[in-house]
Amino acid sequence: MNTKKLAAERAVEAIEEDMTVGLGTGSTAYFAIEKLGERVSGGLKIRAVATSKRSEEQALGLGIPIVPFAEVGIIDITIDGADEVDRHLQLIKGGGGALLREKIVAARSAKMFVIVGEDKLVETLGAFPLPVEIVPFAHEWTLDALKALQLNPELRLADDGTLYVTDNGNYIADCRAVAIEDPADLHEKLNAIPGVVENGLFVDLAHTVIVGREDGSIDTLTR
Ligand code: 5RP
Repeated sequence: MNTKKLAAERAVEAIEEDMTVGLGTGSTAYFAIEKLGERVSGGLKIRAVATSKRSEEQALGLGIPIVPFAEVGIIDITIDGADEVDRHLQLIKGGGGALLREKIVAARSAKMFVIVGEDKLVETLGAFPLPVEIVPFAHEWTLDALKALQLNPELRLADDGTLYVTDNGNYIADCRAVAIEDPADLHEKLNAIPGVVENGLFVDLAHTVIVGREDGSIDTLTR
């Protein structure tokens, strides 16, 4: 069962005529964008903003109108994946490297729909390495500050072995082996470090989590 596709296609049902839609990034968001493309081909009129170059390209290829951020006030619905979801609907995101743009878009959205397979549900966040986007300047010092918080940071590498660089020209430090008991507290501590641009904890941003299950059922969790 493709649990990602199941959740993604259910989320797209919530999109209505004339909405402004935020497009997430990743393999689950991919299915949502495909489905939205079908609905747009069928006559649905919406406009969208994207959280990454790759999602923007996919959307444009499907005829989904992408509008400049300056033309958008509030986004009606953003649909995006996640790496982990806890029972309070707090998230780890950024496995795909788009956390900064995803958080900017989520924060501007009336509703954030998170789409996941059931394997993403966890008791405590942190088994998945927490991505932290950091500026290249003096990044060694920023890593030291993350180490001082016992976060075991490791700079992310691209497939070719060079340092991974985000759409914003920054690096990502993946912080491993951390059980995150208080996501809001860690979020504040991380973003207080000079050199940290943003971190992958999405605290109180998800309104609805749609979970695709292996048996073909779908659960909708709301705050
Ligand atoms: C990208 C993200 C993704 O939403 C997250 O990594 C989940 O990815 P996938 O849907 O491929 O499992 O945060 O920055």
